[in-house]
Amino acid sequence: MADYDLIIKGGTVATATDTFKADIGIRDGRIAALGLGLDGAARTLDATGKLVLPGGIETHCHIEQESATGAMTSDDYFSGSVSAAFGGNSTIVPFAAQHRGQTITDVIRTYDDRAAPKSVLDYSYHLIVSDPTETVLNEELPMAFARGITSFKVFMTYDKLIVSDEAMLDILVTAKENGGLTMVHAENNALIKWMVNRLIARGYAAPKYHAVSHPAASEAEAIQRGIALASFVEAPLLFVHVSTDAGARTIADARMNGHMIFGETCPQYMFLTADDLDRPGAEGAKFCCSPPLRDKATQDVLWRHLNAGTLQLYSSDHAPYRFDETGKLSSGSNPPFNRIANGLPGIELRAPLLFSEGVTKGRLSLNAFVALTATNAARLFGMQDRKGSIAIGLDADIAIWDPEKKTRVTATGMHDNMDYTPFEGLELTGWPVTVLNRGNVIVDGGELKAERGAGQFVKRLPFDGTGFVPARAPEMMPATNFGANLF
Ligand code: URP
Ligand code: ZN
Ligand code: ZN
Repeated sequence: MADYDLIIKGGTVATATDTFKADIGIRDGRIAALGLGLDGAARTLDATGKLVLPGGIETHCHIEQESATGAMTSDDYFSGSVSAAFGGNSTIVPFAAQHRGQTITDVIRTYDDRAAPKSVLDYSYHLIVSDPTETVLNEELPMAFARGITSFKVFMTYDKLIVSDEAMLDILVTAKENGGLTMVHAENNALIKWMVNRLIARGYAAPKYHAVSHPAASEAEAIQRGIALASFVEAPLLFVHVSTDAGARTIADARMNGHMIFGETCPQYMFLTADDLDRPGAEGAKFCCSPPLRDKATQDVLWRHLNAGTLQLYSSDHAPYRFDETGKLSSGSNPPFNRIANGLPGIELRAPLLFSEGVTKGRLSLNAFVALTATNAARLFGMQDRKGSIAIGLDADIAIWDPEKKTRVTATGMHDNMDYTPFEGLELTGWPVTVLNRGNVIVDGGELKAERGAGQFVKRLPFDGTGFVPARAPEMMPATNFGANLF
């Protein structure tokens, strides 16, 4: 009998901290050995000249999800997970959205029914909580945590999703008590609505005014307020899709002050600008997302924040709405900016864009790339016991990258269910050519090798902040001023 089911031979392995030459022996879906000259496998993959990295973990994507206004994303769990796999990911954590009036139990059941028969990758969900009733807070969220769904997102904007500051305090405390991590979409709702109304009333309705209506000040204020709330109750908080220097600096400051505040940014803020919203006709609709695209100076600053560790995550925020009447043009062929579905596709290009523009061009170390695309997500979202690195005992979730492979981005080259890519025409160097999930080859040589439904639900651990600064043991947490267990 062979010692291993599979050996990946001759590659250069990189983790978030180290880069070394090693073969990887895989048995029963897990990494069983790391070393030179491994032998004795039923199958061997030759990785000579390649980089062998942890499979990406994509933790901000909208798949088979209804928006609050009723639009369905174009990707279901099959096309979404396939596209993620072709982009070097082994695990996805999309959102399971509660709309007002829905129970969390129903939401989880709905998403289980959507994901289990279709996902080719391992998966979990973050819950979007828009209706935090007493039952949700006291019964349903604890039940979700017990099932291993240990993170959720709240919105500080969008009329149909927004939670009040009081509700956010309740949610932060519920998460803290149950070992959860709260994620937040931080934009000032009143400022945006005021701007939208004034712009539309004056006839400024073209897509480019979407960016004008969501100014940097709106994000900066909401991030400050979110930090004030989270630090008051000493709960961890992750700001998703941070798009401004002011926002990122506020996060860096909070971390300096010892608060468990985390940040994420996305490819659209690093590789596109608000000028893209000003393309001819309705083309700008393809670039409408919230927060909106910013400018070149912001791109440079976000690279610095990624390198400095202010932002621990880099995610696609894949929110696929086609450029037709099912998506971006559901309000007509020339819609006003406030009637355009928000969100851009990009799950397949997330890691290749960062690799090409970061690692290949020398703006980011290979180890930082691994941290930003896999390891930090595993740690923040309670999967570090199984995923996010290359070490004996972990799931054999692996992406083999050809660092020289040149790719010209086209919409037709993507495996999602979209009719455009906002990154059309970019020339990339470096691509994940083989992707494994629990030792199974999912993608190889440009072909899908996995069956629908091959992915498994990942039961996640409680959040503990391990591996991040500030990393505080419970006994080091600052004492509250109240002398009573109010939170
Ligand atoms: O515009 C965006 N980002 N749409 C997706 C939903 C969200 O807020 O992340
Ligand atoms: Zn958001
Ligand atoms: Zn999103």
